[in-house]
Amino acid sequence: MENLSCHRFFKHRGIDKGHLYQFQELESTNVFARDHVFDLHHGDVIWAIQQTQGKGRQGRIWISHAHQSLTFTIFIQKPIEGLWLNLSQIAAMALCDLLKQYEIKANIKWPNDVLVGRKKISGILLESLSTPPNALLLGLGINVNCDDSLLYDIKPPATSVKKEIHMEISLSNFLGQYISYLESYLDLLISHGFSAFREKWESYSNLLGKEIQIDQGGKKKTVQVTRFLSDGALEVIDGKEKKVIYSGEVFL
Ligand code: BTN
Repeated sequence: MENLSCHRFFKHRGIDKGHLYQFQELESTNVFARDHVFDLHHGDVIWAIQQTQGKGRQGRIWISHAHQSLTFTIFIQKPIEGLWLNLSQIAAMALCDLLKQYEIKANIKWPNDVLVGRKKISGILLESLSTPPNALLLGLGINVNCDDSLLYDIKPPATSVKKEIHMEISLSNFLGQYISYLESYLDLLISHGFSAFREKWESYSNLLGKEIQIDQGGKKKTVQVTRFLSDGALEVIDGKEKKVIYSGEVFL
């Protein structure tokens, strides 16, 4: 704990009794976790009240605001085959289930954007360390108490919990609730695999049967989504060919 010199420390409040470290300001919680891999343990959570250079997927920036957005990274160190894709997917489902408790009907834009209607409420950035301790860094940005004036800066259109329910909520309670959902989903993923989530996954996904554009490494093409495979990958028809897609950016 001393090594991390955080602002506040909550013992056993992370995943699987990991710790929760709260910082007043960090450049990015994912970058911080990457720079402190040897001080962290499985289940530890790094929470920054303010991020100054939040990272989004595909080199984008992630805009967040102190006391309005939740920005945190969970340090995951479980050697599970295929965990990469599935971890970000269960993280998205855990959030949809939590939002349901707040009577917000969310959906998932494959692979892991959480939307309300067509507006993004959360983004997930999963990074892996290719050298020991070979951990995964699961970074989430959730628009919790963001007001219109702040959401206005975000493209594509975004929303927040506060905007949906017209009520401000406690960031620390929301984070605590999220951690318990994710903890139980991670246990289920480890014990039963992604197939245990398939029904839930299909119910939250907004892509089944749709024609979408997918960008894979700068190349955009139009494909039709035929089904989700049990490992969470997307089966599509590309022209006349059936293909399986594990990564890429989807445009509806
Ligand atoms: C996306 O592009 O949709 C992913 C956004 C992920 C943002 C979160 S905020 C906490 C963590 N730290 C970062 O720098 N990024 C992720």
